[in-house]
Amino acid sequence: MRRLKAKISRLPAVPQAEIDDSPPVRGPRGCVRVRAAEATVYRTLLIALSRFVPAEAAHEAVMRLLRFLSPLELLRRILRRVFTLRAPELAVKALGQSFPTPLGLGAGFDKNAEAYDILGDFGFAFVEVGTVTWRAQEGNPRPRLFRLPKDRALINRMGFNNVGAEAVVPHLDHGRGVKIGLSVGKSRAAADTEAVEDYVLSLRKLARFADYVVLNVSSPNTPGLRSLQSPERLEPLLVESRKALLEACPDRHVPLLLKVDPDLGDEQLVEIGRLALRLSLDGIIATNTTVTREGLASAPGKVEPLGAGGLSGPPLAAKAKRVLRTLHGVVGDRLALISVGGIETGQDAWERICAGASLVQIYTSFIWGGPLTPKRITRALLRKVREKGLSSIQEAIGRADLSS
Ligand SMILES: Cc1cc2nc3c(=O)[nH]c(=O)nc-3n(C[C@H](O)[C@H](O)[C@H](O)COP(=O)(O)O)c2cc1C
Repeated sequence: MRRLKAKISRLPAVPQAEIDDSPPVRGPRGCVRVRAAEATVYRTLLIALSRFVPAEAAHEAVMRLLRFLSPLELLRRILRRVFTLRAPELAVKALGQSFPTPLGLGAGFDKNAEAYDILGDFGFAFVEVGTVTWRAQEGNPRPRLFRLPKDRALINRMGFNNVGAEAVVPHLDHGRGVKIGLSVGKSRAAADTEAVEDYVLSLRKLARFADYVVLNVSSPNTPGLRSLQSPERLEPLLVESRKALLEACPDRHVPLLLKVDPDLGDEQLVEIGRLALRLSLDGIIATNTTVTREGLASAPGKVEPLGAGGLSGPPLAAKAKRVLRTLHGVVGDRLALISVGGIETGQDAWERICAGASLVQIYTSFIWGGPLTPKRITRALLRKVREKGLSSIQEAIGRADLSS
């Protein structure tokens, strides 16, 4: 116990920006102290727990709890009251739809679409489910998810563990209170030459349930996947995917997006942006995790033994911002950009919106910051909108001059 206490005390303090100690939009000043305490208590508990419970086991326990709580309507109403902030100024029009706020949950948290509805109650305007593949697959051997507490980061090499497109259908086949994006990936067993067909099979099966679909060609954990981002390979994938969506949903335009990786060079990004415009893609999600290990506070001796995998959280932020800016330089407001990667605070989210993102997502900061993270971010965004004298957050999209 003494060693655990010492370990906790050696960790860097919760950053001020993460605590969000500015006055609440409404409500008594005392809220600030409660918020600061909540962030510290949650983080301390998480770090204590992480000594005993491996990261993936903790995630599975949370998913079990969420599935158990999902049918309890009264509790769900309470969750929404506590965790959700809505205001007309936060509404965003993107992908031909209205989103109550610009904040969503990134792909990979709810891989089998089992808890997206209750996750929406935690203040997310949309949840990206998946990545789902055509064939069910186990993913990589465990352990494959690691915490880096000093960086508030994660490294994962999950490898698209999921129950497969067919088995996901019953989870989606009912009304819902939150918008869902559906992330589709290539089955590991599909050869490179079968990649397009493999995506298309999943799209045909699942597209009708989605508010938008994403082609995930950027996970570092499926061998060869990222090579699908080269224009020669991307073009047939985008063309055939669009056809599949038209066949699956002849009466509704299902927005088609691409998720790119943060390790692409500017030239490749420009090519992707131009191709996306030429083929009338609806949007690009930037970015997936990085294979680099730059700028970490964690000791290399701790990080290297963890092996391969994608790094997420604050060390990814600079790369995700660069990709967003480069893409925005090419596509402007002609298609929707969704920014994800290292967003922890309302200021982070605001900067991405001012750099051209219509929507933003978080994943790792939801783990490290706890269930109030979405509310903290949306509250701070609302404050920004009011501070800048805007009538809606929509007006801030692409306004680099408002970014401070
Ligand atoms: C454990 C884990 C699993 C993930 N699985 C997926 C996935 O299946 N599909 C995907 O597109 N992105 C996946 N991601 C990437 C996230 O959606 C997001 O792009 C990335 O983590 C950067 O955002 P963050 O810094 O807010 O976490 C995963 C991330 C983590 C940490």
